[in-house]
Amino acid sequence: MTIPGTFGRDQDETDAAPEDPLALMGSWLPSPTDPVKPLMVFATAGLDGYPNARNVLLSAFDGTRLHFHTEARSRKAAELAAEPRATAVLVWPEHARQLVVTGDVEAETPAEAAAVYPTRTRALQLLAWLNTDELAARPVAERRAAWAAFDAAHPGQPLEPPATWAGYALTPRRIAFWRGDTEGPSNRLVYTLGDGGWTLERKAG
Ligand SMILES: Cc1cc2nc3c(=O)[nH]c(=O)nc-3n(C[C@H](O)[C@H](O)[C@H](O)COP(=O)(O)O)c2cc1C
Repeated sequence: MTIPGTFGRDQDETDAAPEDPLALMGSWLPSPTDPVKPLMVFATAGLDGYPNARNVLLSAFDGTRLHFHTEARSRKAAELAAEPRATAVLVWPEHARQLVVTGDVEAETPAEAAAVYPTRTRALQLLAWLNTDELAARPVAERRAAWAAFDAAHPGQPLEPPATWAGYALTPRRIAFWRGDTEGPSNRLVYTLGDGGWTLERKAG
């Protein structure tokens, strides 16, 4: 457990900064086939102008884009339809690392999203079918009965994805790698994408 105000130490003590931040990002993130899916705080521009943020699972980093999966009727889906820009934040306090990725968001094709659904656990596959405001408003016993009934009525693995199953991919334009140090100041490598490619600034933590 991390004590508030402290953090571990970045395993990577090099001052080297690669030209390509996507490669560095890949070295911080699990490979797309790793069953461990990190959480990321995913922030969008709210329809009322106030930012919204929530945790989602990072389904995969494909070497270029960060993918996540969600419900097509969700607030975040409506916000992305209106303003397809977002920031994702991942943190590893024990490794003294934080990754902040800002960029443009595109919907995955239905085929891309459908390919991910069977890789989700049974519980998450069921959730994608049963995650409605209507059911959420019912008492716990009714919610559990609806879940058990749906599960029993759809034996076999995997389920088919519901029509509301949706995937999105964030293409980075700005990437900040924050690294803590137990014996010195924290610092950031901040990469920004311009016409000439990525530029790097070294910033205070
Ligand atoms: C640990 C954890 C993992 C979650 N993973 C996802 C996810 O992968 N996709 C998703 O849509 N929501 C996920 N959620 C739920 C979201 O945080 C959020 O409550 C939900 O998507 C509704 O967000 P919205 O109303 O802003 O669209 C997760 C929540 C937690 C606590």
